[in-house]
Amino acid sequence: MCGIVGYVGRGDAVASVLEGLKRLEYRGYDSAGVCFKSEDNTLNLYKKQGKLANLKRALVGVDHFSHSSIGHTRWATHGEVNDLNAHPHLSDTLTTSEMISIVHNGIVENAKEIRDELKGQGFSFKSDTDSEVFLALVQREIRNLSESEKPVVAVCRAFKYIRGNSAFVVQGRNFPELIAVKRGAPLVCGNSDNRDDILVSSDPYALAGVVNTLFFPHDDTVTVLHSSNDVGSMDPVIEFFDLEGNATTGFDTKQQLIDVTTTDKGEFEHYMLKEIYEQPKLIRSLRDYYFSPEGQEMLKNSQEFKPERVHITACGTAYYAGLGIKTFIESIDNIPCQVDLASEFRYRNPLISNKDLGLFISQSGETADTLAAQELCKERGLLTAAIVNVEGSTLYRKSDNNLLIKAGIEIGVASTKAYTLQVLTGRLFSNAMAGKKLDKVLGERFLLLADRISDLLAKVDMIKEIAEEIYNYKGYFYTGRGKYYPSALEGALKLKEIAYVHAEGYAAGELKHGPIALIDEEIVNIAIIGPELYEKTLSNIEEIKARKGVIVGIGPEGDDSAKEICDYYVPLNFKGLEELSPLYVNVANQLLAYYMAKFKGTDIDKPRNLAKSVTVE
Ligand code: M6R
Repeated sequence: MCGIVGYVGRGDAVASVLEGLKRLEYRGYDSAGVCFKSEDNTLNLYKKQGKLANLKRALVGVDHFSHSSIGHTRWATHGEVNDLNAHPHLSDTLTTSEMISIVHNGIVENAKEIRDELKGQGFSFKSDTDSEVFLALVQREIRNLSESEKPVVAVCRAFKYIRGNSAFVVQGRNFPELIAVKRGAPLVCGNSDNRDDILVSSDPYALAGVVNTLFFPHDDTVTVLHSSNDVGSMDPVIEFFDLEGNATTGFDTKQQLIDVTTTDKGEFEHYMLKEIYEQPKLIRSLRDYYFSPEGQEMLKNSQEFKPERVHITACGTAYYAGLGIKTFIESIDNIPCQVDLASEFRYRNPLISNKDLGLFISQSGETADTLAAQELCKERGLLTAAIVNVEGSTLYRKSDNNLLIKAGIEIGVASTKAYTLQVLTGRLFSNAMAGKKLDKVLGERFLLLADRISDLLAKVDMIKEIAEEIYNYKGYFYTGRGKYYPSALEGALKLKEIAYVHAEGYAAGELKHGPIALIDEEIVNIAIIGPELYEKTLSNIEEIKARKGVIVGIGPEGDDSAKEICDYYVPLNFKGLEELSPLYVNVANQLLAYYMAKFKGTDIDKPRNLAKSVTVE
C-alpha cells in the first residue's frame, strides 16, 4: 500500500527520500510526493499523480538540497488519484508554529467525524483524503500546547483521536525532528553507523544499505527522529515514547537482512521472471535450512502442537497456498483443517476454540486482514503460528510460533516464489506436527521438485509459443481436480493480475454446473491433467471441447491420449513428486501468465491498481 520514507541528517534528504521511494515502487502506487525543509525552515511541497518519474520531473531546476524531508507513494483509498490528494499534505496556515506536513499509510476510520468537528472549529480541507484530518488535528494540538510542551505531545494527543490502522510521519517548520506514530500499520526506522543519516519508512527495504540495525516501534509508540545536525554526539538520534509522552521500550530491534545488491533484476526483464527462475535454488536452500540444526529448532514447537482443529487464514495467493497446506494437514496429521479468507473470517463469528491452532500465511506479514484474523484468534485464546517470509514483520512478531519460508525479498507484485515456498513450508509443518522427523525421502522429493522445475524452465520456449497463440482470447478457465484445484485457482489469479484478462479457477467437475454456458470458441481452458482422477478429468475436457473451447493441457509426459484431445499441450514428468506435483504444475502456470502478459504489453512487475502489501482492510 502507501509507502512512507522520511530522512533527517547531515546528507541530502531529498535524494535519500527519492531513493527510498524508488525502492518502494514495487509495492504499487498511483502518485508520489516529497516535502523538504529549506535553509530558512520553509516547507516546500512537490507532489504528482502517476509514476515517480513525474515527481522527479517536477523537481528539475528546483534547489532541493535539504537535511529534512518526508516522501510518499500513494495507493488511493479515499479520494481519486490526482495531485491534490497525493501526499505529503501541507498546512497552509500563516502561523509558522503550526506549519507542518504529514505522510500517512492506512485508513482513518473516523475521518468524517473528525473532519466535521474540525470544520466547526474553523479548519478547512484541500483534499478528499482521510489523511488530511490528522494534519489538522496536529495543527490544533500544536496551537493548544503550553509553553513548556514539545511538539511530540501534540502528535500524541492528535493520534488518540484516530481510529483504525495507520502510520504517520510529521515534519514541522518550527521543530527540527521528524515525529512518527503508528497503530496496526508497518513502520521501521534506524540510523547509519556514523549517525549521519536517520531514516523512517513503512518498509525495511527503503533503509537497506544505509541502516544496519532496524527499530520496529510497537503500536501506539511515538518515534522521534532527531537530526544528527541538532544533537550532540552522545545524544540519542532516535527516541521512543508512549502516547502519554513517557520514554518507552515499546519497540523491537532486528538486524537488516536485505542486501540491495541482490535485489536488481540481473539478466531478467522483469522481477517476476527472475523470481520464477529463483525457485529451484530456493527449494534446495529451504530443504537445507530445515534439515540444519537452526531449521530443526524452528520446527521443534510444531512437534508439540496437538490441536483439535487448525484454522488457516490468509489472502490472495497465500490463501491458495493455505488450500494446498490443508490437504497436508488433513492427510498427514489427520486433523480437521479449515481455510478462510482473512477478510471474511472475523465477520462470520467463526466457531473457534482455545484447543485449536490458528495458522496464518503471508509473504509480507503485513496484510491487514490476516493480522486482524490473527488478533481475533489470540483474543479467543488460540495458539498461533505463521508461515511467513518477512522476518520481523508484524505477523511474525505477533505469532507464538513462526516458520520462515526463506524466499528472500519478493519484488514482483504477482507472488510466485513465495507461493511455492509457503506450500513447501506447510508440508514441513504438517510433517513436524505429525511428530515425524524430517526423513531422507521427503528431502529427496524436495530436490526432485527443484530438478523438475529447472527442466521446465529450460524448456520455456514451449510455453512462450503457447502464450503467443492464446493471449488474445476472450476469457480463460483454469481447471484442476483434487490436489490440483489450488493450482487452478492460483493460475487464474496470476493471469488476471498481470494480463488484465478475465480468468477463473474452477474444479474441473464443477464447470458443468453453470460456467459451461460461457464456453465457446473464444474461451480457453487451461486444464491440469494430474495422474489422479485422470479419466474423469479427460471427460471434463471433452465436455469443453464439444463446445468448441480451446484446450491447453498441462499433463503427464508421454501421454498421447491426453495430448490428442488438447489443442496445445505442456508435458510434465510427474513421477515421484507425489503431493508436491501441484507446485510443478504451478510453475507452468506462472510462465504462461508471464508470457501472456508480456505479449499484451502490460506493466508486469507493477500491475495497475495493485499493491504488493495490502495494509488496509
Ligand atoms: O503478503 P501476503 O502474502 O499476505 O499478501 C496476500 C495477497 O495480497 C497476495 O498474495 C496477492 O494476492 C498477490 N498479489 C498475488 O499475486
